[in-house]
Amino acid sequence: MSGQVGATPPSSNPSGSTTPSNTTPSNTTPSNTMNTTCPQSISFDAQKVSPPMLQYIDVVKSYGTGSTEVRAVTDVSLTIGRGEFVAVMGPSGCGKSTLLHLAGALETPSAGRVIVDGNDLAEMSVRDQAEMRRRDVGYVFQSLNLIPALTCLENVMLPLELDGVATKQARLLATEALHQVGLDHSLDRYPDDFSGGQRQRIAIARAVIGDRRLLLTDEPTGALDTVNSDQVVELLAALARDRGVTIVMVTHEPRFASWTDRVVFMRDGRIVDQTAPDFGATVSSGIGVTS
Ligand SMILES: Nc1ncnc2c1ncn2[C@@H]1O[C@H](COP(=O)(O)OP(=O)(O)OP(=O)(O)O)[C@@H](O)[C@H]1O
Ligand SMILES: [Mg+2]
Repeated sequence: MSGQVGATPPSSNPSGSTTPSNTTPSNTTPSNTMNTTCPQSISFDAQKVSPPMLQYIDVVKSYGTGSTEVRAVTDVSLTIGRGEFVAVMGPSGCGKSTLLHLAGALETPSAGRVIVDGNDLAEMSVRDQAEMRRRDVGYVFQSLNLIPALTCLENVMLPLELDGVATKQARLLATEALHQVGLDHSLDRYPDDFSGGQRQRIAIARAVIGDRRLLLTDEPTGALDTVNSDQVVELLAALARDRGVTIVMVTHEPRFASWTDRVVFMRDGRIVDQTAPDFGATVSSGIGVTS
């Protein structure tokens, strides 16, 4: 890892996608929408050498049984490429958070398969799943879960220390991660001493430290004002662009669409529409992607 994310001009990420050059949110309604049946047929450049980072195949998630059954997710099939920045939108209760929880193995599907980096979660042991959650997947939720009694630096060091990384090394990596999200000083202060936007940056640094490749974020800007929200989403876009982190972000804000590679729309547990993946000039007819 080197330098501060976002410090460099937009460039191609490992999936071959590009971040929109217009980093000012301008369009309020995602355009170029298309039917949702195509993701399985999209061939990402990166798939020639490695599997997609995240795949849902005919996934169903129900809670309860019989008359009390709630279908949170219904027949979802979705493929997300490496380094892709995908926003998930839809009305309250439509299954957005459940979709994230399934990807992070925090929930088990009732039917179908969830495949992370080529690994079918159902075929992984509980231990391997836990290791994947700890090492490969970062989470940023609206309630940040920063530990108030730990300093900013200690919060970011925590996942590495839990993973057995020596304190000195963890401190070094945490300092670097905080630098990347634009926090260079006051690292020995406590979360309450920071603004909401700064706290969200600390949470993002903690979520991606140790080169986590998949970042699941659930309404990361829900509690922030416009300026801080924009900075956080810009930071996420830069992480995808500059470090190739795959990001799935649940949001209620249509204006963030211009920073993402794709917007997936959900309703009543189903994916009802999505924008074409932004692979720059490689997108043809909104469905096939060629190299
Ligand atoms: N643990 C659970 N037990 C029972 N029902 C659940 C559980 N978790 C979610 N649900 C139900 O599943 C549906 C989808 O919930 P989910 O939290 O995924 O929606 P959401 O799109 O994230 O909503 P919001 O925008 O309000 O956060 C809802 O009807 C919810 O009540
Ligand atoms: Mg939710």
